[in-house]
Amino acid sequence: MELIHNNNKAAIITDNSQKIRSAKSFNPFDKEFHANPYPTYHRLRSENPVHRHYIEGDWVFTRYADVKAVLRSGCVRTHNRPELIQQKNLYLQDKGKNLNTLAYTSNKLLFFMNPPDHSRLRSLVIQAFSPTVVERMRPRIQEIVNDLLDQVRNKGTMDIIADLAEPLPVIVIARMLGIPNEAQDQLHQWSKVFIRILDSLVSLEEYEVLNKVIEDFQEYLRHLIAEREKDPQEDLISALIAARNQGERLSQEELLATCILLFMTGEETTVNTIGNGMLALLSYPEQMETLKREPTIIQNAVEEILRYDSPVQMTNRIAIDNIEIGNQTIQAGEKITLCIGSANRDPAQFSDPDRFNINRSENNHLAFGDGIHYCLGAALARAQAQIAINTLVQQFPNLKLATDKLEWRDNIVLRGLKTLPITFTCR
Ligand code: HEM
Repeated sequence: MELIHNNNKAAIITDNSQKIRSAKSFNPFDKEFHANPYPTYHRLRSENPVHRHYIEGDWVFTRYADVKAVLRSGCVRTHNRPELIQQKNLYLQDKGKNLNTLAYTSNKLLFFMNPPDHSRLRSLVIQAFSPTVVERMRPRIQEIVNDLLDQVRNKGTMDIIADLAEPLPVIVIARMLGIPNEAQDQLHQWSKVFIRILDSLVSLEEYEVLNKVIEDFQEYLRHLIAEREKDPQEDLISALIAARNQGERLSQEELLATCILLFMTGEETTVNTIGNGMLALLSYPEQMETLKREPTIIQNAVEEILRYDSPVQMTNRIAIDNIEIGNQTIQAGEKITLCIGSANRDPAQFSDPDRFNINRSENNHLAFGDGIHYCLGAALARAQAQIAINTLVQQFPNLKLATDKLEWRDNIVLRGLKTLPITFTCR
């Protein structure tokens, strides 16, 4: 693929053989698509890799090369969700209601921001998530995993989601931010609701709930920030307060939004990595055996989990310049849905892409995105998934799936299970 820039036009050139057939897209309401989107992605990549979605009219990109090129392109900006929320806010204001807090805060969330504000805010937070910092956290993450698993070790049965995958990232990110133990449950509940801001299928009533949640979340954080201002600690909130106080590089609203964003983004994605990964290993017992025999391949195994059943399946961009792809022109201002889950199963990039193979050597997946919005928490997410999955596989003999009815969470952007019950032999 070639990316060409000129004065007023950016063109992404791919082969010219594909035609739009917008009726043949994915149906976001289809239960079958929810349960297993991969056959649909395969069909779209071969028949209709660049097309307009039949409901919303957005462009949908499904091939690895196209998705990667757009993520790296300077000809796009992030999703206009904050503007859409503001439109809904104006509509509700006419009816005596409002989404004021949600509309204001969504503008300050890193992943909806664009340069130069995005670069400034990202540079303030990135240090806290560097691979070196995360390496130092590994012993603590291992301790948390051991504590969680000790509670089920003698039971012979557990729900991987509720007993391990959900509590782990909450405890880890709360500790980084400096949130006291007693508040973690409440903040976790709020983030589980607020994550719906990433979904495009959200009703007005739900937006009102999100607005209330964000008001409560901010109220809590304001008190905590006031405490840390008086008595700074070795935590990320204190570090961000110091940044805010240095020459106004960070506003109070950005500080609040960033704390909420980190709490929210770090949770469900990590839960889904552990859940989807354990499901893949349980479904391919020979791969589970390989990992058991060779625990050191856990890093490779987690990369394959991220590729094979990506926790973030889609993201969006808006063209800021005309983009030509194949024989289509994406006009400036048009919205593009990038199917990360499909890109990661593209046979043009990955050999035998539907095979779950923890020994795969070439694995340049897009599960953490690419370009300027590349996942800030990638190193932290990898460390948590590696430690959680390896501890479970190494310490719990005879792991078996305890259900034939798997239920997926109600979200087409984030792919993850509601529960994952298993049995094992007690030692
Ligand atoms: C395996 C788990 C995770 C996955 C699969 C994942 C995936 C992603 C993806 C695909 C993006 C880019 C979205 C886009 O370009 O539109 C992203 C961005 C982001 N992620 Fe993650 N993420 C994970 C865990 C985490 C964790 C643990 C944190 C922090 C605690 C985190 C914080 C962020 C932030 C702040 C951004 C926005 C970065 C920016 O806009 O510059 N993520 N993540």
